[in-house]
Amino acid sequence: MSFENSACAATLHDKASDEAVNGDRRDFVKKLSVTTLVLGVGAAIVQCGRFLQPNVLYEPSRVFKVGELSKFPIGSRIVIEGRGIEIVRERDGFHAISLVCTHLGCLIKPVENDPEIGYLCPCHGSTFAHKGEVQGGPAPKDLPWYEMYLDHTGTLVVDASKVNHKRTKLVV
Ligand code: FES
Repeated sequence: MSFENSACAATLHDKASDEAVNGDRRDFVKKLSVTTLVLGVGAAIVQCGRFLQPNVLYEPSRVFKVGELSKFPIGSRIVIEGRGIEIVRERDGFHAISLVCTHLGCLIKPVENDPEIGYLCPCHGSTFAHKGEVQGGPAPKDLPWYEMYLDHTGTLVVDASKVNHKRTKLVV
């Protein structure tokens, strides 16, 4: 074998090797492009899907059942946990009073066995009478009463979306 032939064989071998490397690069770039395209299209579809769902904050309904009448004996004051209200039953009827302070919205505490003070706010010390009237502290307004009614099954329902401005009791 002559020198020329061996040089030619080496050149052919280098060319073949270069083509193999270029082929690998082309495959890699092709796979990278396809992957990027698939991810991009997928992300775009997900973003479009988000537009199809309403962008709302799901909160519990302001109209809710608090229980059957027997749960509220005359003279009881029962705080409905997680709702910020207290159900008060007196001889002449029921009322639902807000336990959210009218100053800055802290949850106020019912006061037991005090003839004057019915509620006390732990944040800045506002006090309210038993019917919710402001007695002291920075609270600017009385505690609102909410509408309530008995549903067809005899269950007590509070509609906290409606303020009972006249402060009328539910008589049952
Ligand atoms: S939040 Fe109740 S007194 Fe300030």
